[in-house]
Amino acid sequence: MSKRIDGKAVAAAVLDECRAEVGELVGRGVKPGLAVVLVGEDPASQVYVGSKVRTCGELGIHSRKIELPAETSQEELLAVVAELNADPAIHGILVQSPPPPHIDEEAVVRTIDPRKDVDGFHPENVAKLVLEDPTGFVPCTPAGCMRLLESAGIETSGKEAVVVGRSMIVGKPMAMLLVAKDANATVTIAHSRTADLPAVCRRADILVAAVGRPEMIKADWVKPGAVVVDVGINRVDDATRKRGYRLVGDVAFDEVEAKCAAITPVPGGVGPMTIAMLMKNTLQAARQLAG
Ligand code: GUN
Repeated sequence: MSKRIDGKAVAAAVLDECRAEVGELVGRGVKPGLAVVLVGEDPASQVYVGSKVRTCGELGIHSRKIELPAETSQEELLAVVAELNADPAIHGILVQSPPPPHIDEEAVVRTIDPRKDVDGFHPENVAKLVLEDPTGFVPCTPAGCMRLLESAGIETSGKEAVVVGRSMIVGKPMAMLLVAKDANATVTIAHSRTADLPAVCRRADILVAAVGRPEMIKADWVKPGAVVVDVGINRVDDATRKRGYRLVGDVAFDEVEAKCAAITPVPGGVGPMTIAMLMKNTLQAARQLAG
């Protein structure tokens, strides 16, 4: 029987650390602040943004939720970011992804002050991740995956890790964290054009699924005894549920659970960690900006 890695419990522990740190910062006269910008009405993004703002409230972090209509122009959005860059009460800025298609997301990210880029998407922070410079911000979801592995006592050093997905939000930074000197894994980044993807996945001692395709990774893609981290959060229609859908990961959970050593469930695995690590990054920003 495999171990289920409980993301809710680990996230709660991270949030307890954050609560203590907020108290310490406030005692020094620094009230940490996070601004979350949402353009448009994507229902999943609305849920994520709501949770981020609610968690700030629970920790005593000041937050601003800025909801802009889907028709917001690039210039208007850049002006909002510029205003937040200049606001001394705001230490972290996040523009929820994905924005509407007419928005140049890359240009928006480059406009965020890298010292406030708590998503870790700005090129300066991407470089610091590669350089293993701890003053940079590590993207929240892969940082959360690493923390889950650590909390579950999973050794990464010398292990074969396969990351399925090459996004800038998860796949690429996850690979960088696994190969870094404090993790020492041997890493393969696989993607939609990888030849014989199931065979590549079967090499993995640690398999990270971040593709956004419901239940794509089947039991026969997984080496017996592997550790499986499922980053996917996919809505699939389900008429038996009141809301009309249920959430599933990128991994066919039931069949893979029977075969692996440990696995993160969906929901309740990586999801809660993303928000917890965002809070950690916001406190890092507040600390660094306060000097
Ligand atoms: N959309 C999905 N995950 C994320 C994230 O970590 N940050 C932002 N800004 N948008 C996202």
